[in-house]
Amino acid sequence: MPVVVLVGAQWGDEGKGKVVDYLARKADVVVRFQGGNNAGHTLVVGGEKIILHLVPSGILHPGKLCIIGNGLVIDPQVLCEEIEQLKQKGHFRNEARLKISERAQLILPYHRMIDVASESRKGEGKIGTTGRGIGPAYADKAGRTGLRFCELKNPESLVRKLGAAIAEKNQYLVKICGAKPLDSGKIIEEFLEYSRKLSGYAADTSRLLNELAAKRKRILFEGAQGTMLDLDHGTYPYVTSSNTIAGAACVGAGLSPRLVDRIVGVSKAYTTRVGAGPFPTELSGELAERLRERGGEYGATTGRPRRCGWLDLVQLKYAARLNGLTDLVITKLDVLSGIDPVQVCIGYKYRGKLLKEFPAEIEVMEKMVPVYKKFKGWRQELGKVRDLADLPKETKSYLKFIEERLEVPILAVSVGKEREEIIVMSEPFARRD
Ligand code: GDP
Ligand code: IMO
Ligand code: MG
Repeated sequence: MPVVVLVGAQWGDEGKGKVVDYLARKADVVVRFQGGNNAGHTLVVGGEKIILHLVPSGILHPGKLCIIGNGLVIDPQVLCEEIEQLKQKGHFRNEARLKISERAQLILPYHRMIDVASESRKGEGKIGTTGRGIGPAYADKAGRTGLRFCELKNPESLVRKLGAAIAEKNQYLVKICGAKPLDSGKIIEEFLEYSRKLSGYAADTSRLLNELAAKRKRILFEGAQGTMLDLDHGTYPYVTSSNTIAGAACVGAGLSPRLVDRIVGVSKAYTTRVGAGPFPTELSGELAERLRERGGEYGATTGRPRRCGWLDLVQLKYAARLNGLTDLVITKLDVLSGIDPVQVCIGYKYRGKLLKEFPAEIEVMEKMVPVYKKFKGWRQELGKVRDLADLPKETKSYLKFIEERLEVPILAVSVGKEREEIIVMSEPFARRD
């Protein structure tokens, strides 16, 4: 069964977009299954850079079907802009290539306002969200007061439901957030426009995916965010509001776990995190600055500088277990060239004890001290390397250590932003289908 789930193994921004774009060559369908436009997935093809927030990263390959699953929260304004931009650039000529689940949730303007207001009320303790309304939209989904994508198909009930929802939220906005009430007429107008532009993409995507799976089509799931931002398993409360791990692919697309064949985790050769919350191997000073500048570590969605640190194998081992990784892709290996020594975290010290598992308590995460193993660095630039054998021996021993510790084989190593700047050891779709 050629179904591959790809997830971020760290705190997001691992280079999932680039790897999905590469793997999509051999896929028939690419599916997003959770999150929303908090994601920013960067694709660089022939010097052209495209950042996708909602549309799956298979879109640059003509002929591939792209699906936005039921597990997403969709901001229709952002989606319209993204579709428009892709059309202008000539990447989206055939509208039948995009299908959006009728059961996905909608992000409404009040979700964005509540997100921003609740962050500013938290002050020092803020999560550092992307401000896109993700948390409040998922909260409404769980609270059973959300509006779904299928509403866009029926303008009459859309107007009625929107009117009621805005009247309700206006009370909250005024009384709790101290904001001005929203103009319901204006929002309804906007949504009627989204209904005209977007309702044609609505589909029963679970049914479609199951039909495609039955025909043995190659399905690639594109995770957003990363394992440590998972609502249940991440560094709670400094997480996003969806499940980001591989198990969520089935829920967020309506496909049985029986059909999943391989699970690919993407990790940088070091670690980054954007937003607040524990980050055990975080670096400061010159080294952090160097990683940030060489790696271009600025958020693809918000432009915020990313926090940078060493690779954390305790964290990655946790990710390997939670996702059941069958394969690993290491990205941004090129960024480490010229750094000597290179270090990786192999345990944490906490109150005189050695921790080998990622803890649950934020207080422990904040106080534990990483134990590092040092590796000799390498000077060579790696951008042009396409064969594992041509990597410097120091780089190879770094990779070998990662692979052995995690007990997960490395499928590919990315050595630059461009689609072709990658060393591929094996093709996930080629193995058992
Ligand atoms: P995503 O959210 O996981 O898709 O990752 P982002 O797109 O937010 O961030 C990854 C950044 O690293 C983007 O700017 C990519 O263009 C870039 N990138 C991806 N792989 C590589 C690589 O192997 N080397 C370098 N230098 N940059 C890379
Ligand atoms: P991609 O798919 C990195 C982080 C935010 C914040 C926390 C909660 O590009 O890897 P939210 O807006 O989701 O409520 O914010 O999660 N975050 C990400 N960090 N990459 C992402 O997506 C992220 N999406 C959310 O910075 O710390
Ligand atoms: Mg990103």
